Amino acid sequence: MTDAGGLIAFTAGLPKAELHVHIEGTLEPELMFALAKRNRIDIPFKTVDDVRAAYAFTRLQDFLDIYYEGAKVLRTEADFRDLAGAYFNRAAADNVRHAEIFFDPQTHTDRGIPFDVVMKGLLQAQDDARRTHGLTSKLILCFLRHLDEDAAFGTLDAAQPWLHKLAAVGLDSSEIGHPPRKFARVFAAASDMGLKRVAHAGEEGPPEYVREALDILNVHRLDHGNRALEDADLTARLARTAMTLTVCPLSNLKLCVVKDLETHPLPRMLAQGLRATINSDDPAYFGGYINDNYAAMAKAGSLDRGAFALLARNSFLGSFLGDAEVSAHLAALDAYLSRA
Ligand code: HPA
Ligand code: ZN
Repeated sequence: MTDAGGLIAFTAGLPKAELHVHIEGTLEPELMFALAKRNRIDIPFKTVDDVRAAYAFTRLQDFLDIYYEGAKVLRTEADFRDLAGAYFNRAAADNVRHAEIFFDPQTHTDRGIPFDVVMKGLLQAQDDARRTHGLTSKLILCFLRHLDEDAAFGTLDAAQPWLHKLAAVGLDSSEIGHPPRKFARVFAAASDMGLKRVAHAGEEGPPEYVREALDILNVHRLDHGNRALEDADLTARLARTAMTLTVCPLSNLKLCVVKDLETHPLPRMLAQGLRATINSDDPAYFGGYINDNYAAMAKAGSLDRGAFALLARNSFLGSFLGDAEVSAHLAALDAYLSRA
């Protein structure tokens, strides 16, 4: 099949991992309203359509302002369980077999919600997803980079009882003006605690921020990484070291990081040997879950079946699963490819 419909169906069926999704970014307007009602919280929208109409962004900060506002409806353990449960159900339907999800504890603890409430809700949803769908998952604690180093250390302290439940720390929120080096000591401390490291870099920030993420934060993965392509030496280094890039096409489009998907850098990334993956970022805000992102790139016309199979393969290779688990997922992927 060479038509876009056939290619989209092929990508939908691929077993895949999702490595870049903010759980707060999976809050659908319908759930936002339900939780606002359950918790008796006023939200600045009258209808679900009002909410969706507000999702017109020209840059990252436009989105972040509304994303932090939306997160205010999340208050109880049940809220976090329901939020993550809805995401896992949605992801399972997209043939996601493993998800490594970001959460932003500071967005909640700064409103007086205890760290433990967030963790307990998320852990319950993770258990449910494993039992119901066989979908495994890991948690990545993200520091908000617009806040200071002390605040990040406070969050790392609050995480101490839960270290065994966390795979990694990450870095998100407003990139420009908040370079990775600001969190050098926090990431070093997290590393000493046995946590892996990832960071958003090169979404809006320059290649220099990508270098800092590599050299100062010692990241295992780069989230986005688009602007690394502006620097040929850096691109060659990323290819040589098989650094995973968690690329988010619909996010890039919605936040005007790219002009359109026809010229999205993903095909160039693959051509230059980068270990790129496809992810949804904040699917409730950016117009689609992981398969919508695969489908949007299929429609854009610059990737073929082989490229999509490689992207799915990269998603398992770039995960924090152990070698045996990765091999099992790759075998399932190969079985799918031999049938498709
Ligand atoms: N970039 C930075 N911070 C974020 C994002 C993003 O795409 N989504 C949620 N927090
Ligand atoms: Zn992100």
